[in-house]
Amino acid sequence: MLIQNQHYRTIWLSPENEEVVCIIDQRLLPHKFVVEELRTVSQLITAIKDMHVRGAGLIGATAGYGMYLACREAKENHGSEDYIYAAAKELISSRPTAINLEWAVKRQLKLIQTKQTIDDKIIIAKRTAIEIADEDAEYCRQIGLHGVSLIEKISKVKQGAVVNVLTHCNAGWLAFVDFGSALAPIYKAHNEGIKVHVWVDETRPRNQGASLTAWELLNHGVPHTIIADNTGGHLMQHGMVDMVITGADRVTAAGDVANKIGTYLKALAAKDNNIPFYVALPSSTFDWNIYDGLTEIEIETRSADEVKYISGICNDEFITVLVAPKNSSAINYGFDITPARLITGLITERGICGANQESIAALHKNISH
Ligand code: MRU
Repeated sequence: MLIQNQHYRTIWLSPENEEVVCIIDQRLLPHKFVVEELRTVSQLITAIKDMHVRGAGLIGATAGYGMYLACREAKENHGSEDYIYAAAKELISSRPTAINLEWAVKRQLKLIQTKQTIDDKIIIAKRTAIEIADEDAEYCRQIGLHGVSLIEKISKVKQGAVVNVLTHCNAGWLAFVDFGSALAPIYKAHNEGIKVHVWVDETRPRNQGASLTAWELLNHGVPHTIIADNTGGHLMQHGMVDMVITGADRVTAAGDVANKIGTYLKALAAKDNNIPFYVALPSSTFDWNIYDGLTEIEIETRSADEVKYISGICNDEFITVLVAPKNSSAINYGFDITPARLITGLITERGICGANQESIAALHKNISH
């Protein structure tokens, strides 16, 4: 996407040194745009854990590059296969909920195993990392092409009046390699001249909506309004939301969706107000082995300090302030499960399908997994 007229992806190999992985440090947005260089697997794992990079697609792509760095490091460790497997294990456990991470590492391992020499392993791992990133961007572009039809339909019914879309967290290009999932149809609609306005949930505790989604939309010129997380239901009751589109971190083969904490409450409110609730995802976000999101998806628990403290900028300096009694305890679940029955449809790179086993399987008949 464009930032001050320059095209960026969220991850790339440095053109000066192809052993260096470049990312945008998302902890500093929207205040500072800083490119960080990752040179070791361990730096890359820290970047995932501490959320310099985040979002299902992007952490998958980052893990893909992580396996490339792991092969390079293995060469310095006598070509050790154990080194590669240990790195794979550590990468997979760096964040547990988004399936894209595990998917990317397993895709890499499968191909790396087919090569005998460490030099060949490095070559295939590099090629695969680039392929995973390119594919992620392309799939998100296609999600935009399919999803825009939904916005277009509502716009026609409203005779060209503004279509109000509510979104939660950040499922824009920053959460992927480019384009985004939930925001891709919105960008496409805006580019085509359809009047669209986005209600942006702030998304406590890490505020990915207020800091990242708002920044993305602002850069792209899409009208939007940031709201406190508790506002969505009120807006829906007053006819101020036409549809909801969110992203996903893991979707079961039967259509249950794990997404940022608070998504479930928005889906309940949408159901009560007869508002279509769509989830956008590339196929790498399906977990084909599970059917029941509530019992089978691990929900990440992060530090309680993310709830008790808020970070931001004050007089050009980053500060963190305590907003709760220091000695109160807090708990920080990163994700929740929205049951398939509350979801109107899934927007994927292959098209739009119902959130149920039959429709998902019909659309993904020949997918390899
Ligand atoms: O904790 P994060 O920021 O990595 O959470 C992931 C998300 O950004 C959201 O849950 C998003 O809606 C799905 S990822 C495209």
